[in-house]
Amino acid sequence: MSKEYLSSQSYKGTRDFFPKDKRLHRWMFDQMGKVVTSYGYEEYDGPMLEPFELYAAKTGEEIVNQQLYTLIDRGERKLAIRPEMTPTLARMVAQKIQELARPIRWYSVPNVWRYERPQRGRLREHWQLNVDVLGGETAFADAEIFHLVYDLITAFGGEKFISIRINHRNLTNCFFKDSLGLSPELALQLAKSIDAREKIGEEKYQAWIKDLGINDDQQKQMEVFFESSFDDIKRNYSCSGISDLDALFENLKNFPINSQIIFDPKVMRGMNYYTGVVFEVYDTCAENRRAMFGGGRYDDLLGLFGNTRLSGIGFGMGDVTLQHFLEVHKLLPQFQSAIDVFVTFPKQEFAQKAQEIVIDLRQKGFTVITPLEIGSFSQQLKVADKHEAHFAVLLGEQELAQNKVVIKNLKEGSQCAIDIVQVSDFLKGKCKSCQKIF
Ligand code: HAM
Repeated sequence: MSKEYLSSQSYKGTRDFFPKDKRLHRWMFDQMGKVVTSYGYEEYDGPMLEPFELYAAKTGEEIVNQQLYTLIDRGERKLAIRPEMTPTLARMVAQKIQELARPIRWYSVPNVWRYERPQRGRLREHWQLNVDVLGGETAFADAEIFHLVYDLITAFGGEKFISIRINHRNLTNCFFKDSLGLSPELALQLAKSIDAREKIGEEKYQAWIKDLGINDDQQKQMEVFFESSFDDIKRNYSCSGISDLDALFENLKNFPINSQIIFDPKVMRGMNYYTGVVFEVYDTCAENRRAMFGGGRYDDLLGLFGNTRLSGIGFGMGDVTLQHFLEVHKLLPQFQSAIDVFVTFPKQEFAQKAQEIVIDLRQKGFTVITPLEIGSFSQQLKVADKHEAHFAVLLGEQELAQNKVVIKNLKEGSQCAIDIVQVSDFLKGKCKSCQKIF
């Protein structure tokens, strides 16, 4: 009977991070970390499992009903694997609200899970930089978040290739209620269809809104509204969100990429907790259709945990869409191997000496590996090459007799005999004198 082997592939919509992939991942997050910490944001983290109710309240129907990974634990509690970080942030802030210095500036890079149909820019597990500020005056805090977005994308060299689309939840709600006369429930359904419009195509969108009972007159009004400039909106509508947007645009007057900020009343955002400014950042390259960042202001999220009110604004920036962005615009660096030195191990008698050299070089800050087995130079140099080490230290009988070793530059192919005490200086480029060996 033939044996059934397990698949070595990862679960659909998730990724294995081999060391090369992880190097890129780490680099992206290090770049992000530098920017957010320069604004004084502090890192936090939370559990991957939370009570189901944490999301059921305000995360939004699509995620809760179609995308949440849920489970019942052994104590019969209904839990969910986090599909986003904002509810955890709100829960943690509510826990210590009296003690925390305000404004609260926090960031986190969690992996989050959504049961999506895997496609370009959408997976079932992704990592997301979350940046949030709670407290402070709305207009200043909103503007800080947009400056941070700009600095983040600039840290990757991509500021020319983005557009930032901004809207305000209150403006949308006010238009749905006052101009179209919709109930809050119908307004929510309509918002979902508008959010999905680009993704599902015009035909399905039209069928959807007909299904919701939107008549021709309402549809005409919607088209006019969606194509309005901010000046048109100011002239024709009166909603409280307009003054927030006005203040924000005023604060962003000297924004370095002002022409790339677009007022777009079609920006809906799926989450139900947003109450103020909402925004999405898009790649200008049509190949990457999905938003790279999404965020907004939430006034009432902390109210879930008691009689607490503290308004916040923040965003999530996904690793998948960022990587596509960097690939398309050729903004990824060439990653070098982290291994500085490979110390060969040609004979048992040299093991002690090899170990002394390894310890000394590691103490001096080099990343050093050994083959962990005895073998000829030619075998071991092949191994060193495969590990992409920069240098190999060869322990030969003749050289060791004179307290020397041979150092081979594996990138250039050159090799030199060097006094053992000078190896680290030579590797640092401080000691140029060596006896070249060909
Ligand atoms: P979101 O728009 O759902 O917002 O996600 C933020 C970003 O995460 C998206 O713009 C996208 O880059 C990435 N993303 C979302 N879903 C996927 C997926 N299935 N695969 C790959 N990438 C994805 C939120 O999650 C809010 N909690 C953000 C926030 C923080 N709002 C305020 N503070």
